[in-house]
Amino acid sequence: MQFETEKVAPQSEDKALKPKHASKREEAYTLKVISGPASRELAEAVSAQTGFQNVPVVSKIFPDGESYVRLDGSVQGEDVAIVQTTCPPMQDGRLFQLAFLADSARRAGAKKVAAVVPYLAYARQDKTFLTGEGISVETIARMLKAAGIDQFVTVNIHSEPTLGQFPFPAKTLSAIPLIAEYFVKKGFKGALALSPDKGAMYIAKQAQEVLDGDVGHLSKTRDRYTGQTVQTAEGLNVKGQTVIILDDIISTGGTIVGAAKILREQGAKHVFCGCVHGLLIGDAEKRILDAGVEEIVGTDSVPGSVSKVSLAPLISQELKAQK
Ligand code: R5P
Repeated sequence: MQFETEKVAPQSEDKALKPKHASKREEAYTLKVISGPASRELAEAVSAQTGFQNVPVVSKIFPDGESYVRLDGSVQGEDVAIVQTTCPPMQDGRLFQLAFLADSARRAGAKKVAAVVPYLAYARQDKTFLTGEGISVETIARMLKAAGIDQFVTVNIHSEPTLGQFPFPAKTLSAIPLIAEYFVKKGFKGALALSPDKGAMYIAKQAQEVLDGDVGHLSKTRDRYTGQTVQTAEGLNVKGQTVIILDDIISTGGTIVGAAKILREQGAKHVFCGCVHGLLIGDAEKRILDAGVEEIVGTDSVPGSVSKVSLAPLISQELKAQK
């Protein structure tokens, strides 16, 4: 099993992140940001940007693989936001860490416990595709509710209507404008925003608003038994164009590899890829680059080699709006 040990050196509350330029109004607000072990840097960046005090977490993995977490600061009488992504590796362990932190916060007297989960594991099993399946993401939400979470924020969940089935108020934010801004800063204003399937067209449209170029999509069908996909490009002319393929998730990379090959065959000049959640399982990154993608840009919902865009401004804006 790929269990990793994630540790934070014990820190007294005095050493916790303090607002550098917080206004009186910000200091008066009592929301505290709990640094989930999987998103410590992101949570600290959110604290720094909002001025909300950070509560460190001490964590370890026991020799038998079980998770341990402990809040290293007071949350008595406070609203709290636990920032904890649940991407691989150990997404199940990270979900449990989140649940344990919610329980710890409740027991320590927190008033409202919000979960900020940049990447929500199991979000793609949002319906019973085949007879005999469950709806994993709904099970996760009920588990989190039982643990003490009463508000939920995620980023670019695979299917937004899923959130309507959650047992607490839940919303999804979009990181696509931040990713598109990254490409604009690199000089690719006017690039074609391309969705690898029709379902992600809303993502391409959000990017188009920032890139200020054209928008288009490929078509993709997936065999539910084998997982194999078939992609086609009908009525799309990309010859000589700079194209940015945009998707919510890159998992095995098959979708992006297929799209990049089509675009290169059709004479695209430059091909880039922007995704919110770059899981990049196995050799996905290499296969995507080998297929002709010049750069892969993801966010810190999945910390790693392509997490070049931080979600801190997006999450900070959302938490500040909750006042
Ligand atoms: C599916 O509809 C998603 O939006 C992604 O396109 C998909 O999860 C990517 O998976 P993979 O990288 O394995 O092709």
